Amino acid sequence: MSKRYAILPGDGIGVDVTREAIKVLQAAVETTGTRVELQHYPHGADHYLATGETMSDATTEELKTFDAVYMGALGDPRVPDMAHARDILLGTRFKLDLFINLRPVRCFADRLCPLKEFGAKDIDFVVFRENTEGLYVGIGGNFKKGTPDEIAVQEQINTRKGVERIVRAAFDYARQHGRHRVTMSDKSNALRFGHDLWLRVFHEVAEEYSDVESRHLYVDALCMELVRDPSQFDVIVTCNLFGDIITDLGAQLQGGMGVAASGNIRPGSTSMFEPVHGSAPPLAGKDKANPFAAILTAAMMLEHTGLPEPAARIEGAVLESLEANECTEELGGALGTAATGDAVVRRLGG
Ligand code: IPM
Ligand code: MN
Repeated sequence: MSKRYAILPGDGIGVDVTREAIKVLQAAVETTGTRVELQHYPHGADHYLATGETMSDATTEELKTFDAVYMGALGDPRVPDMAHARDILLGTRFKLDLFINLRPVRCFADRLCPLKEFGAKDIDFVVFRENTEGLYVGIGGNFKKGTPDEIAVQEQINTRKGVERIVRAAFDYARQHGRHRVTMSDKSNALRFGHDLWLRVFHEVAEEYSDVESRHLYVDALCMELVRDPSQFDVIVTCNLFGDIITDLGAQLQGGMGVAASGNIRPGSTSMFEPVHGSAPPLAGKDKANPFAAILTAAMMLEHTGLPEPAARIEGAVLESLEANECTEELGGALGTAATGDAVVRRLGG
């Protein structure tokens, strides 16, 4: 078997942690007989500042020919409006129609759990964030910009098809992974058109999955419940913006942004994998960033592309490294980024 992955290390610590993720990925597949071809792309702030290119349509088309795309964090103070990050990250999500943003929230060790009276066993759920619609579509504009009479319009798009496919994906996932409950979160008490559509579609689809429990929570209540008792959640499905916010909250519940992985998925097509964290410019190049999120994201990519065995070994190795305190300062260890990657490699086994 052979696999081809496109690698975009991105900006800032994205570059530092992607290096470790690739190191671990290569070590994990080495013993499996699978040949892995990695093609690096320079797209990020440096490339944008040097060439003016964010991401061309031709490059986007090329990405579609890979088994998957791995993307590091994007963001650089020299590009204050994040123009390149929006084009590269959101552009890839939209143009490849990666409608599922799958963000697992799993706490790997009791000491990483920030809630008193709860531990690792209580925090294990998956967020299905809608990834191609909502407030992220970029429809809108400014009128009389910069004047006291300015009007800013930012449209939120919800389509029947778009809502239905993400809700179905959440229920299918629950079924396939032995998860018992799907919670849909919206703000239909205030957003009476777009989110009323979400509520109606959710109830309709839920009827087809009578073997899975369905629950609805307004997003404000969901945030409260996530902190009050996270053990009640299994699968959460929600719109693009709420998914963005909920998964930062989720990342803290599992031990911080340094351990949160994600996949931007379109079943049956090229999908893209990226850690949830940002590019943290002040930490860039200092061998300080925690590479676990990036490494776990590489494992997600392997699993998604038909290599569950090396993916499971990577997860196991991260868990062991964490237990042995072979990790960066952020998680209580004393290792740098590269040494943490090496520690994971050592624990991969054969
Ligand atoms: C994320 C990020 C992005 C998002 C930003 C960088 C546009 O916060 O992947 O969660 O909002 O989706
Ligand atoms: Mn985010």
